[in-house]
Amino acid sequence: MSLHTARELLEKTNGEWAVGAFNVTNLEEVQGVVSAAESENAPVIIMVSEGAVRHAELGYISAVCLNAAKQAKVPVAVQLDHGTSLEMGAQCIRSGFSAVMIDNSRLPLEDNVRITKRVVEVAHACGVSVEGELGIVGGKEDDLVVADDEARLTDPDVAEEFVRLTGIDVFAPAIGTVHGLYKSAPALDFSRLEDIRARVSVPLALHGGSDLSDEDIAKLIRCGINKINVGTDLKVAVTNAVRQVLAQNPDTHESRLLYKAVREAVRDTVVKKIRLFGASGRASSMRL
Ligand code: 13P
Repeated sequence: MSLHTARELLEKTNGEWAVGAFNVTNLEEVQGVVSAAESENAPVIIMVSEGAVRHAELGYISAVCLNAAKQAKVPVAVQLDHGTSLEMGAQCIRSGFSAVMIDNSRLPLEDNVRITKRVVEVAHACGVSVEGELGIVGGKEDDLVVADDEARLTDPDVAEEFVRLTGIDVFAPAIGTVHGLYKSAPALDFSRLEDIRARVSVPLALHGGSDLSDEDIAKLIRCGINKINVGTDLKVAVTNAVRQVLAQNPDTHESRLLYKAVREAVRDTVVKKIRLFGASGRASSMRL
């Protein structure tokens, strides 16, 4: 099935289900994501953030992700997550990514439009899809920390203009989710999401998809979300699994026990998310 753009996968959802997009950092996490997608016969988006690129180096992590996509029995997109510059976007495109997300949401609107539009020109010339963000999602994503009073929900009028001016393929609105675990009950603005959905024709991406209730996820999909980003729930599963292995084997020096636990923790978590997002069984009927 191999590599596809994120847009190609998301356009198949018809507003009825969502594609899971999972943040990865290393080999075992990539294997966990792809093996879950294959066992559920679901399309999947592997996401590499700028922080993950710094940790793993682009050459290594792109080779792992692209090899996984090439071998996968389900459709896969490999996407840069929260890229902040044209340079980073271009490097990922040159490495073979099929999608990039450019996040200049903290810049003034004109700058966000200008840089995102430039990334779109370069990416589209290479057959790569682009996700852009407007409004500011709160919480912590790698080194990106947004204080509660800095978070801004997306204005639907400006969203329509932003998508039109930039030519992006996927739009990430801020509708009340945060990156990371919630300190209090999430305050999701479903009517704002519906308003944005009515004005914007491209697929919508939800950032901060961890730590939400099953009911909220179902409602977010009903209100128009096509892509759900999950990072923190994988980190929680991975760190808990490693703690458990070390607690059960206090004297071991077999490091592969840890790596195996990481792969299995990611796989089990991604299987649950894929089922929750209604993506199970969708791969074979996608006709890409
Ligand atoms: P979480 O870490 O809250 O799941 O958010 C992930 C995300 O939105 C990546 O862009």
